[in-house]
Amino acid sequence: MLRRRSFIKNSFFSLIGFSVLRTDSLSILKQAFDDLNFNQSPNEEFWLTVRSAFNIDDKLINLNSGGISPTPIPVHNRFKEYLDKSNLLPAYYNWHVFEPQKELVRKKIAENFGVDSEEIAITRNASEALQIVQQGLELKNKDEVIITDHEYFRMKNTWEQLERRRGVKIIQIQLPVPFVDDDYLITEIKKRISSRTKILHISHVVYLTGQILPIKQISQLAHENDIKLICDGAQSFALLPFTHKDIESDFFGTSLHKWCYAPIGTGFLHIRKELLTKVWPLMAAPKSMDNNIRKFEEIGTHPAANHNAIVDAIEFNSQIGIERKLNRIKTLNNVWINRISGYPEFNLLTNTKDSSKWCGMVLFNISGVNSSKLYKYLLEEEKILTSPMVHNNFKGIRISPNIFNSLSEMEKLSEILESVIKGKVDQVKL
Ligand SMILES: Cc1ncc(COP(=O)(O)O)c(C=O)c1O
Repeated sequence: MLRRRSFIKNSFFSLIGFSVLRTDSLSILKQAFDDLNFNQSPNEEFWLTVRSAFNIDDKLINLNSGGISPTPIPVHNRFKEYLDKSNLLPAYYNWHVFEPQKELVRKKIAENFGVDSEEIAITRNASEALQIVQQGLELKNKDEVIITDHEYFRMKNTWEQLERRRGVKIIQIQLPVPFVDDDYLITEIKKRISSRTKILHISHVVYLTGQILPIKQISQLAHENDIKLICDGAQSFALLPFTHKDIESDFFGTSLHKWCYAPIGTGFLHIRKELLTKVWPLMAAPKSMDNNIRKFEEIGTHPAANHNAIVDAIEFNSQIGIERKLNRIKTLNNVWINRISGYPEFNLLTNTKDSSKWCGMVLFNISGVNSSKLYKYLLEEEKILTSPMVHNNFKGIRISPNIFNSLSEMEKLSEILESVIKGKVDQVKL
């Protein structure tokens, strides 16, 4: 089987020549999956094949996919092909050949998200997608926006700037950690809705804890009260199996360089068609584009390679299957959680027991241990990259493994954490 895997890897690398949005390296992967009885329950061999579709850095164990993910080899090759070809004559290839193909990307995203392609704007990340809406809505002095205290810091910064600039009022709900009760959040939102409330801005998956929030219930509540819902989907798209009908947001922004494995600098914004004219673009567009989703893409010269390779990334995810991917990520996490969960010093800040609320990222801390020192120790001494999370009410370390991680990497993490809990690592103590 090793020979099989190296064939796959070599084939990815040896693909030469060039054609537009083709999927031949992906079909090699599909063939490999078929050979492994892909439709049956995947075994470790299957996951090793998946791992071989990525270039793995042997210097560090990567447990921070919630930050950015690497692109699989076939997607990365496609991206490089676009860049190389573009560089031969950018004014022709980038503008005349590749940029028009953005329409295929728009269609692919729309199909995947279950919406009309005229509702999809391609952006460079979730920050851009969400800020288009935050900054582009005509919110006025004393208009109210309800958010949770677990929203991404940049999105909070945007609301705070709008508070200073236009007098928008932010109303913040404190989420319990771990999060166990959807009804609690719904009740807290209801309590704060007033005649001035214009927007609910809520994450689908909380970046701090990996907790899934009840977006569909929240959007129903918003719509009953004539309020619009902005859903931050940076951590949910291509990690959770869902389409737009499962959340019914008015605005949805995500990055595609996290769980979708597209090149760095990719994302999208979904806006319901009837709301298009209510949002100004961040960078100006002509009046004739008022009702055109492409008005949000008037960003000046940029590489087309990044967004065109999104098609290949979505295809790669379809080959794996989102449900299968999510289950694997949870299995990887359960390796280390199960090993240390019996220790009273271990504090799990994510509700992993209720699978409807857990996406596979985990936040934890250890009593008597300084989380920042532990993060540094894991990185510098043990060569494991995690993500330190600091909130006003808690601190911890987020573990976000991916389909390319192995069971043995998770076992290594659990052994290290066990010795930390047993007090064997002095440098991480409080
Ligand atoms: C919930 C959430 N929203 C927004 C963002 C911003 O994403 P980006 O930096 O890709 O724009 C992140 C990034 O981690 C996030 O986790």
